Amino acid sequence: MRRVLVTGSGGLAGVNFVRALRASPRAYYIVGTDYSKYHILYPDVDARYLTPRHDDRSFIPRVAEIASKERADFLHPQPSSEAYVISGRRSEVPCRVFLPSAAVMRVGQDKLLSERKLRAAGIPVAMTAAIESKPDVRAAFAKLGKPLWVRARHGAGGRLSLLCSTPTEAALWIELWVRRGAARYDEFILQEYLPGRNIAWDSLWKDGRLVTSYCRERLEYPFKHISPSGITGTPSVSRIIRDERLNEVGRKAVKAIDPKPGGAYSIDVKESASGAPCVTEVDSGKFHSTMPLWGYIAVKHLGLPDYANLADLYVRLGLGEDVRDLPPDTDLLPDGYYLLRDMDVGAYLWREDDGSKVKVL
Ligand SMILES: Nc1ncnc2c1ncn2[C@@H]1O[C@H](COP(=O)(O)OP(=O)(O)O)[C@@H](O)[C@H]1O
Ligand SMILES: [Mg+2]
Repeated sequence: MRRVLVTGSGGLAGVNFVRALRASPRAYYIVGTDYSKYHILYPDVDARYLTPRHDDRSFIPRVAEIASKERADFLHPQPSSEAYVISGRRSEVPCRVFLPSAAVMRVGQDKLLSERKLRAAGIPVAMTAAIESKPDVRAAFAKLGKPLWVRARHGAGGRLSLLCSTPTEAALWIELWVRRGAARYDEFILQEYLPGRNIAWDSLWKDGRLVTSYCRERLEYPFKHISPSGITGTPSVSRIIRDERLNEVGRKAVKAIDPKPGGAYSIDVKESASGAPCVTEVDSGKFHSTMPLWGYIAVKHLGLPDYANLADLYVRLGLGEDVRDLPPDTDLLPDGYYLLRDMDVGAYLWREDDGSKVKVL
């Protein structure tokens, strides 16, 4: 029996991760934590605890205390924010983690630092301007043209992002958040607008080697019509695609951020007007919300071998198990499958070519 502690287990990604472990033929005792007294009710765990926010001084001691009390063998911090603090203070937690170093995660969680590293490694990225004050906003438009995509360097779910057609729009948007105390000027970057396909490349690595990966295109976000940017984090419609260019760009992007990758790395790519795949984020140590769900679907509905259960494979690799039956390193999942999911409607696997539909949740 493996004993696993999952933090942020009440978020969509956490619930998906726990569900996937339950679908494994191996037995798991799962402990879940969350910051929200409501969300902690969602995951199918054996024991549940509330924790303070990741930036609270008592966060690490509390997680350590729970890990010790529950005799956890392995800790999977699902939210990037929690994963980052745990990575830096892993020695204080009495169980194994499978996370990149805090130095790597710091770059991965800062879109400006990542852009610079990726560019230096010759990986396609959006033209980017950093700003420090209001006049820099106008200068960015003069340099990069318009429209521009304004976004925050840190955070998830398209935090503080907006497509702006003029310097005035961008300046007003940024100033609103600065005045509210939500961010400083230098927390914003302005980027060339990438109008093409919105793509995710999700991967698992061990000792610097790519273990497996798959690629999907995001087609729709839930509640997009009531979000200023249209980005709401995790897609309501996505489909598996296979594209050798993306395998190459994903692999290189991870290596550019972490020379010896180990753990989960979720890459975001947006295509330029000419179709060039530009990397917008290398989320190191992170499972995208639907990555464990796709793994669950792979073993439950697509008839793929056990290794395709990505959450299970990640825990086994993280525990240092000698995993013999290894998956293909790229294109783990067959293309043409759509995942449709939304609040109160469940989740469906659908194919456009033959019209087949299966309820997966
Ligand atoms: N330069 C850009 N042009 C157009 N869209 C962008 C750009 N940068 C990011 N986006 C959009 O915002 C989404 C979220 O950005 P991402 O890099 O994944 O950061 P995060 O997930 O941390 O919010 C992307 O999937 C993409 O759709
Ligand atoms: Mg992202």
